[in-house]
Amino acid sequence: MAGISDEDIQKVREASDLVALFGERVPVRQRGRDFWCCCPFHNEKTPSCKIDPSTQLWHCFGCGEGGDVFGFVMKIDDVSFPDAVRMLADRAHIDIKEAGGRGVSNSRKARLREVCATTRDFYHSQLMRGKSSEAAAAREYLGGRDLGGAVPKKWQLGFAPGRMSLVRHLSSAGFNAEEMIAANVALSGDGGKLRDRFFNRVMFPINDPQGECIAFGGRVIGSGEPKYLNSQETPLFHKSNVLYGLDKAKSALTSTGIAIIVEGYTDVIALHESGIENAVATLGTALTLQHIRLISRYASKRIVYLFDGDAAGQRAADRALEFIDNSMTPEAGKTRIELCAVTLPDDLDPADFVAQRGGDALRALVNDAKPLLSYGIERRLARYDLSSAEGRTRALSDALSVLAPIKTSLLATDYAVQLSGRLQMREQDVVDALALVSPPRKYDNDEQAERQTRRTSHITLSESEKSRRKFERRLVSLLAQNPHMALEHADALAQTQWHDQANEKLAGIVLDTLEKKPDATAAQIVAAASEIAPRAAGALTSTSFSENENPQHAISFLVEELEIGDIESTLASMNSQLKSDPSLTPEDRELIFTAMVDLQKTVNAKRAAHKMSF
Ligand code: CTP
Ligand code: MN
Repeated sequence: MAGISDEDIQKVREASDLVALFGERVPVRQRGRDFWCCCPFHNEKTPSCKIDPSTQLWHCFGCGEGGDVFGFVMKIDDVSFPDAVRMLADRAHIDIKEAGGRGVSNSRKARLREVCATTRDFYHSQLMRGKSSEAAAAREYLGGRDLGGAVPKKWQLGFAPGRMSLVRHLSSAGFNAEEMIAANVALSGDGGKLRDRFFNRVMFPINDPQGECIAFGGRVIGSGEPKYLNSQETPLFHKSNVLYGLDKAKSALTSTGIAIIVEGYTDVIALHESGIENAVATLGTALTLQHIRLISRYASKRIVYLFDGDAAGQRAADRALEFIDNSMTPEAGKTRIELCAVTLPDDLDPADFVAQRGGDALRALVNDAKPLLSYGIERRLARYDLSSAEGRTRALSDALSVLAPIKTSLLATDYAVQLSGRLQMREQDVVDALALVSPPRKYDNDEQAERQTRRTSHITLSESEKSRRKFERRLVSLLAQNPHMALEHADALAQTQWHDQANEKLAGIVLDTLEKKPDATAAQIVAAASEIAPRAAGALTSTSFSENENPQHAISFLVEELEIGDIESTLASMNSQLKSDPSLTPEDRELIFTAMVDLQKTVNAKRAAHKMSF
C-alpha cells in the first residue's frame, strides 16, 4: 500500500471516530447502542444507515453499502485508500511515514522531473539530429507512419540509442545513478553497472496534465517484442491515473465537453493531427475509475470510449462494462457521468481509421457512440441466435446481467422494456426478471461462479432456501463483527454445505484473515475482505445483534441451525434414494434406514438443545 505501514494505518483507524465523521455530513441520532442517519450515498427520507460505535463499522440497510472508516471516506470523498488514510491522519494530527509515493518530498520529485525532462530532450535531439543509421531508420519509420513533418517536434518524440549514451549524458548533466534508476530511465545491470533502460526505440514522452514529462513509452522500430516498453511505476508516475495526451487535449476537452479515449499513443497523435484534439489514451492498461474522474474534471458532458476492432479491443470493451454503476443513472443527478462506447469497424485502430477515411468519418462515429449500457446489451445479445426461443431466453438473462448493478433505477426498467421488444417477450415478464437478477459478483473472475449467477438469476428461490441463505449471511456477518468468536467455529464452518457461494467465500476470507492475524479487529477484517472482494464490506456489515442478544449464543445458534439444515438435506436425499432406487438390495435398504434413524435422532437432540437455550 503506497508505502503506508500497517501500524500507521492502525494508528489512524484508532484515532478516527466514524460517528463524528458521519455527523459532519448528515444529522446522526443515537438509538440504543447504535447511531442512525439517512444514508449519505442514496436518497432517503427515513434513516436506514447504522453506525456501530463499538466496531466502528457502518451499514446502510437501504442500499447495502457498508464498511469501515476508510471505506466511508473513500466513498464520500471519492478518494483512493491511501488518500483516505492521509486525510484521516491529517485530521487526527498523526504523522505517517511513507516510503515512495506521496511521501516523497517535493524537492526529490522536482529532481526526478529534471531527470525526465533532460532525458526527453536528449532523446529528441537524437531523433532530430542523430547521425547513426539507427537514428535515420527511426526517422524513416515515423515518416512512413505519417508521424513525420511537424509531429516529432510538437510531441517531443525521440530516439533512444541505448549503449550507455543516456547514462553518460545524464551523468555529465550532474545526475547520479540512484536518481536515474528512480526515474526508471536507467537500470543497474550485472555487477551493479548502470545501463540505459531504453535501447533502439522510438520514444513517446508521457506528460502530466501540466505538460511536464514524467515517464516514457518506447516503441520498437518496425516489428519486434515487446512492441512497447513503458516506464514502470515511479514516485512521479502511476499509470492507472495518467492519460497520454491529456496536457494537449485539455482545452479541447473543456470547450467541447467531450473526451475520446483510445488505446494507443499513435492513435492520440493521429487524431490530434487530423484536428480531433479531444483524444487521450490509457497507457496499455484498462480504463480505471481514477481515469474517469480525471477526465471528467475537464470533459463535463460525455466520455466516448473508442475500442479497436481487433480481439484485444473487444476484450477491453467487455472489461469496460464493469464500470456500469449508479453514477450513470438519471438518479445520480448532477454527478451523472455519460460514458459511451463504440467499436471501430474492420479490425481498424483509430489511427488507421482516420488515415483511410478521414477525420470527419471518425467524428461521425464518435457522435453515434451508444451509451455504455446499450452498447453492453448489444454485445451480449450478439452472442445468441435470437431466431430461436432458447437463444432468446439465454440472451435475456445475459443481457439483464449487464443491468444488474443499476437494476433499481428507472433507466434499467426502460432498458428492460426495450429488451422485451427485441426478444419478443412480454414487457412485464422482462421487468419481473430484472427484479430477480443478482448483481454481478465482481469479487471473483471465476467463470463458473458467474455462470451460476446467471443460471439462477431468474429462478425464484423457495422460502426455506431464502431463509437458509439469510442464516448463512447473518452468520458470516456476525463472525466478522465478533472475530474473537470466529476461530472456535472454524471446523464447523469448513464442513458447512454452503448454499450461497458468496457466503462461503466470505466465511473463507474471515477465517483466512484470522489465521494470519488472530487478534484482528472487526474493522480490520472488513477492510481485509474488501481488499479481496469490493462488495464484501456491505455484506459483512449487514447484520448485528439486537440489544438483548448474547453474541455467543446467537453465533452458536446459527452454526447449529446450518448444521441441522445440512443433516436434513442428507436425510431428504437418503429418503428419495430409498423411494426411487430399484437397484438397492434389502441389506442396502436396511443400512440406509438405520443411518437415517440415527441422523434423525441427532437432529431431534440438536433441536431440543436449541430450544432450551432460547
Ligand atoms: N501497449 C503496451 N505494450 C505492448 C503493446 C501495447 O504497453 N506490448 C500499450 C501501448 O500504450 C500502446 C497501446 O497499448 O499504445 C495500444 O496497443 P496497440 O494498439 O498494439 O499499439 P498502437 O499504439 O496502436 O501502436 P502501433 O499502431 O504502433 O502498432
Ligand atoms: Mn495500433
